[in-house]
Amino acid sequence: MSGTPARMASSGELNVVTGAFGYTGRYIARALLERGARVRTLTAHPSQPNPFGEKIEIAPMDFGSPDRIADCLEGATTLFNTYWIRFPYRGATFETAVENTRALLRAARVAGVRRIVHISITGATEDSPLPYFRGKGAVEREIAQSGLSYLILRPTLIFGLEDILVNNIAWLVRRFPLFAIPGRGDYRVQPVFVADLAALAVSGAPGGDNRIVDAVGPEIYTFRDFVRTLARALGRARLIVPVPPRVALFFSRFIGYALGDVTLTRDEIDGLMASLLVSSGPPTCPTAFSSWLEGNADLVGKAYTSELVKRFGGRDGGG
Ligand SMILES: NC(=O)c1ccc[n+]([C@@H]2O[C@H](COP(=O)([O-])OP(=O)(O)OC[C@H]3O[C@@H](n4cnc5c(N)ncnc54)[C@H](OP(=O)(O)O)[C@@H]3O)[C@@H](O)[C@H]2O)c1
Repeated sequence: MSGTPARMASSGELNVVTGAFGYTGRYIARALLERGARVRTLTAHPSQPNPFGEKIEIAPMDFGSPDRIADCLEGATTLFNTYWIRFPYRGATFETAVENTRALLRAARVAGVRRIVHISITGATEDSPLPYFRGKGAVEREIAQSGLSYLILRPTLIFGLEDILVNNIAWLVRRFPLFAIPGRGDYRVQPVFVADLAALAVSGAPGGDNRIVDAVGPEIYTFRDFVRTLARALGRARLIVPVPPRVALFFSRFIGYALGDVTLTRDEIDGLMASLLVSSGPPTCPTAFSSWLEGNADLVGKAYTSELVKRFGGRDGGG
């Protein structure tokens, strides 16, 4: 296989991206298409808005039918995997997400896929007390044992216009005079730009070496400064109020109830407060959150983005 994404593209090799109509997957698919590559997406939601039209092939992500997944992966050189759940809902749990990923890996092996580029998260470990991070750790082990060549990218907090978390923090900052932060807000976060993550994923596809790489931007903030930077960019003078984590969780559940969404989960608060969304290594992605914010302050947080509406069409009391 050739050594650069551009040459990989001209060879007409097939790349499969899970969730190309979602957030990260969309950027990976776009980066591949820009390089002239052939792209197929695996998705359980083919009727989501498709920004690529006929440039992308669509195949069903049907975990109930591993043979079908293997058929859909047939002929693919690289599988870019973004599949994961943010929180348990409608019968999907972190355990089922691990099991589904195992089925995907088995199907990839059967189909003869050469390499997997997998999106994980910093702090992923099977020892983690946090189910989200523990599940991600289990998946990393499955990948390492899968027999596929792999690149595991571990992003932190991924920012971009289609993001939910940063967008909804900005939405709250725009609307309310106070912003409650869990604890003192002195824990750190090292945000990474979604297009940088996608570029890292695509450029890592041609290699054959097995690697785990943190995908992190150049700036590290305390969470308090992160919110302050957002508020300043949006032109809002806001009082940032430290509250006990359980009070922050209560507020987020209250707001979530009012909006019919899950705004922030306990794992997300705990992961943030444990400074899991930061890397001990050097930055691997160039875009600074502060400079991105300067160019996007008019757009970020203009509208609330509901995870439940986006994914399930609304709340049903099942989560
Ligand atoms: N967003 C962040 O800030 C962040 C930070 C660190 C790590 N990550 C990791 O980055 C990866 C991509 O995240 P993303 O935010 O870009 O996710 P996303 O686009 O919302 O979803 C990615 C994929 O997961 C599937 N999926 C998501 N929720 C699901 C559910 N409840 N049930 C069934 N399938 C579901 C989607 O399926 P469909 O195609 O069928 O919709 C899609 O294939 C994930 O592995 C995540 O853990 C994200």
